[in-house]
Amino acid sequence: MYPQLTHNENLEGKFHQSTNPHCCEERSVKTPKRLQPLIHDGLIDEVIRPLMSGKEADVYVVRCGSKVRCAKIYKEALKRSFKKAAQYTEGRKVRNSRRARAMEKGSKFGRKQQEDIWQSAEVDALYRLARAGVRVPEPFGCFDGVLLMELITDENGDVAPRLSEVSMSEAQAHEDHAQVMHYVMCMLNAGLVHGDLSEFNVLVDQDGPVIIDLPQAVDAAANNNAFAMLERDVKNMTDYYGLFAPALLDSHYAQEIWTLYENAELHPDLKLTGHFDMPTELADVDSVMLEIKAALAEEESRKERLREAEAED
Ligand SMILES: Nc1ncnc2c1ncn2[C@@H]1O[C@H](COP(=O)(O)OP(=O)(O)OP(=O)(O)O)[C@@H](O)[C@H]1O
Ligand SMILES: [Mg+2]
Repeated sequence: MYPQLTHNENLEGKFHQSTNPHCCEERSVKTPKRLQPLIHDGLIDEVIRPLMSGKEADVYVVRCGSKVRCAKIYKEALKRSFKKAAQYTEGRKVRNSRRARAMEKGSKFGRKQQEDIWQSAEVDALYRLARAGVRVPEPFGCFDGVLLMELITDENGDVAPRLSEVSMSEAQAHEDHAQVMHYVMCMLNAGLVHGDLSEFNVLVDQDGPVIIDLPQAVDAAANNNAFAMLERDVKNMTDYYGLFAPALLDSHYAQEIWTLYENAELHPDLKLTGHFDMPTELADVDSVMLEIKAALAEEESRKERLREAEAED
């Protein structure tokens, strides 16, 4: 359904990618230390192979009983690229005041608390978004900093490609873009902004786009950067689908969705249009110019009065 692009520099992870997880018996993989407790507890039966080493996590294909799943091992804070952590975590609730104080002080206990929150944020978001009607991998829990989730595969059972790896027809781009905008709207309706949505964090299977990679998901009501992040998420998506359907580049979904959110009019059945009338009253250039001219005239007459006063002395 989606022709794969031949080569994409950005896709090179440290690990092998996109071979069938069902035919990997010949590759014996040393069990990573961080997965050993999960094997011990019977949550994972076998590590099939590494899938991808990203900036924030290492991802493995694992077998749980008869199911092939995905295990995402979060890197420790120091090994992560913590680009704009403060921007993302603003507004994240810490109910326990001892925890909050420890986190502020940056003590060992505080750093551990911060890690726990970061690691549980993704699994929490996955459960919340699945309930809100967004297509995300089905979560099976987060244990000791390892997220177990559904492995998204294509029709051949191969690991599904990222959006950045596929090309598509113009009609398909319109359809999938509309689907992703609908997901962005449903996410916001559930109180969240993805915050790192791009063609690298969307997988594509035979039923269309699947949203992944949510540890930085932002609480829309509590975070002052929420609209800017939503705007960036929408722009990234629109720019990519716009490569195949240029008409999309004239749409204004971010403003439309945010205004509906602010007016408490979001609803999962809502049909988005991508149209938005930019407010004209904010940019009333004529009256601003009149005010500037009046101020200049007043200043001129003040100087004139001063000159007259000096001449009289
Ligand atoms: N549920 C899944 N099913 C199939 N593949 C997955 C799944 N989750 C992650 N992957 C693969 O692993 C890669 C890394 O996952 P993810 O984006 O969640 O981690 P990350 O460390 O934040 O990566 P990056 O820094 O590259 O964004 C994805 O781009 C995708 O190729
Ligand atoms: Mg990612």
